[in-house]
Amino acid sequence: MSNAIATSLPRPRGAEHSMPDFVTRRMDEHYVTRIEKLLGGEHPHAWQPTPAGAVFLAGNDYLCLAGEPALVQAQLRALQNSQGELLMSAVYLQEGSAQHRLERKFAAFMGAEDSILTQSGWAANVGLVQCLAGPGIPVYLDMQAHASLWEGVQSAGAQAVSFLHNDMAHLRRQLAKHGRGIIVVDSLYSTNGSLAPLAELAELAERSDSLLIVDESHSLGTHGPGGAGLVAQWGLGGRVHFRTASLAKAFAGRAGIISCSSKFKGYFLSESRPAIFSSCLLSHELAWFDAALDFVATADGRRAALHRQTRLIRDSLRELGYNIEGSEQIIALEAGAEPKTLALRKTLERHGIFGAMFCAPATPKNRSLVRLTLNAGLKPAQVAQLLTACEQIRDEVGLANWSSTQRLHRLALV
Ligand SMILES: Cc1ncc(COP(=O)(O)O)c(C=O)c1O
Repeated sequence: MSNAIATSLPRPRGAEHSMPDFVTRRMDEHYVTRIEKLLGGEHPHAWQPTPAGAVFLAGNDYLCLAGEPALVQAQLRALQNSQGELLMSAVYLQEGSAQHRLERKFAAFMGAEDSILTQSGWAANVGLVQCLAGPGIPVYLDMQAHASLWEGVQSAGAQAVSFLHNDMAHLRRQLAKHGRGIIVVDSLYSTNGSLAPLAELAELAERSDSLLIVDESHSLGTHGPGGAGLVAQWGLGGRVHFRTASLAKAFAGRAGIISCSSKFKGYFLSESRPAIFSSCLLSHELAWFDAALDFVATADGRRAALHRQTRLIRDSLRELGYNIEGSEQIIALEAGAEPKTLALRKTLERHGIFGAMFCAPATPKNRSLVRLTLNAGLKPAQVAQLLTACEQIRDEVGLANWSSTQRLHRLALV
């Protein structure tokens, strides 16, 4: 019925059809300059429905939790037993509430005193940086740190000081120049699967009297003892001030988390704008994460499968001549310019491989890539399909001429 209404009524022409040119110019940049002229009318992220038998490598459900019966049942029970939701901001949650109890459970899992659940990983990072930094405080960000961390710096009105990806000598020089502040990194980078040198970062933070924030979105659940993450793996829990994570990856839901002390939590809830001005999680969302936490903590078999697939696929792609940076479950096929990357994405799709195109603003303009995100459930036949496709398409996509391939050759000559 609602579809019939939607298609039979004339579509209203809203006021935005006559918007000022400072907006239309920007929209033309997107629709005309980029989509029409650069990409021949095709949207970089619009793909056809994935056909049966396709290998879908564009999602972040690393441990294949979606649809897991124990989790679905827990969520259903919470919906059925709901006495009405607390539709309010987390500021008003009282000690002993379901959310606070789950936050203690997450804290125990991560080896922290306490934690804060947020509406998303984005809200965790923006809210955290915003209530730690401020005008005149340098925030040192790895150039590949997630966009939400940069957004937090802007929101705080602080000074963003970037350093080259994983380049500790450059960070040292920046610290010497600008003084103590806040160092912000991802533990496992979301475009190429590289790992941050966490022990060195902790040492630099201590020596410069700086705070250290580590975003564990792509390692919480997948790495470390019982999935507790990379900070826990390297025994750095006592030296990293704050860990954040999106729970929309290995925990397969919609929320974020920050590890912290109970004292800081009280301050955060009255100071972080996303915590104050946006509503808290709903009870069935909490129920999902409660069950997911139990599941993830004992999912060593799935973690081992993920890491096994990662090693096999990375080694094989390197043998095929791809310049594969990083070491973990996120794999970047960096074709370079956007039209080449779009062509790569579509060629892979014709071979039944669905990856995600990453381009500006997620990457520098000429370093766009197709991101393949591996998961614990990949079957040997799917891995074989991926590797065969990557072997067969090399000439068609012009692998030899990609800037990443040429970088690899230049390195080999040095
Ligand atoms: C490293 C990192 N941090 C934060 C986020 C934001 O998380 P969410 O999607 O839960 O807002 C993401 C998601 O893309 C991410 O990859």
